[in-house]
Amino acid sequence: MDNLAQFIRQLPKAELHLHIEGTFEPGLMFEIAERNKIKLEYPSVESLREAYHFTQLQDFLNLYYAGTRVLIEEQDFYDLTWNYLIKAKENNIVHAEIMFDPQAHTSRGVPFEKVIKGINRALSDGAEKLRITSRLIMSFLRHLSEKEAFTVLDQSLPYREMITAVGLDSSEQGNPPGKFERVFAKAREYGYLTVAHAGEEGPPENIWGALYLLHVSRIDHGNSAMLDGVLIETLAEIQMPLTICPLSNLRLKVVDDLSHHPLKAMLHKGLKVTVNSDDPAYFGGYLNDNLIAVAQALSLTEKEILQLIRNSFEASFLTGELRRKYTGLL
Ligand code: HPA
Ligand code: ZN
Repeated sequence: MDNLAQFIRQLPKAELHLHIEGTFEPGLMFEIAERNKIKLEYPSVESLREAYHFTQLQDFLNLYYAGTRVLIEEQDFYDLTWNYLIKAKENNIVHAEIMFDPQAHTSRGVPFEKVIKGINRALSDGAEKLRITSRLIMSFLRHLSEKEAFTVLDQSLPYREMITAVGLDSSEQGNPPGKFERVFAKAREYGYLTVAHAGEEGPPENIWGALYLLHVSRIDHGNSAMLDGVLIETLAEIQMPLTICPLSNLRLKVVDDLSHHPLKAMLHKGLKVTVNSDDPAYFGGYLNDNLIAVAQALSLTEKEILQLIRNSFEASFLTGELRRKYTGLL
């Protein structure tokens, strides 16, 4: 087993499903809270970590949004992002496509500009000093209105060059993709690519909606596809990438045990699955931890692991020379 872990650790990897706000480690949260003179609801790092027990997505989201309250200045967003990039380097991640939730910040009065400039500056330093390439995905919070999504879309336009795609996250139940069909159409007119969380807690219909109403390039999660045979065939035929997050699924009770995770079955159905960490500070592990845990639980072979890693590079938004360089590493 150590050999398998070693095999996974040394592989160069891409990460495609990662919320930067979900990389907020309690230690850094306390540090930033102190300098911004904000009092956290928990007295210590340990007691905050103790609170990370979730029975469903919404439990987690409540804590996740509470954590963002301490992020105020551009430097805070820089530090948050830089902290992730250091972790990414330790995980041998050479390329990361990172989601951010501007509405979690603008709704508290933090200007869009501070959020994106802080994140972007860290990503530039990451490229220069750590040799990690990246792309940025701006996610809309689906529990908020269509109108609010249009507002943030407009706010993003001066920074259009920094953002590759728009996404859709937060509470899936009761907020189907169709709610954002017009926002996504507008985003595509502006030249953004699209992704969406679908089929995490929601039904296969949400995956169909992401495909045909939002015209996504990737489905984030997509677990419930396994309930719909025609959908499985369709996703396999068009080689639609799914960004699977094993430890997230375990912590949010999307699966009851990692040995019951559909990842291996999805691979065998010919689906273009990738492995990702989602919100690693909350779910107990970064990318290598996810890969090692799921490989052990499902007895994945080295060939299957290589396929997962190759899928990530192929499902990335990279093009041209860089894409060839990375796939050539495997
Ligand atoms: N699901 C939905 N929304 C999210 C998640 C997730 O796993 N992480 C951060 N926002
Ligand atoms: Zn996610």
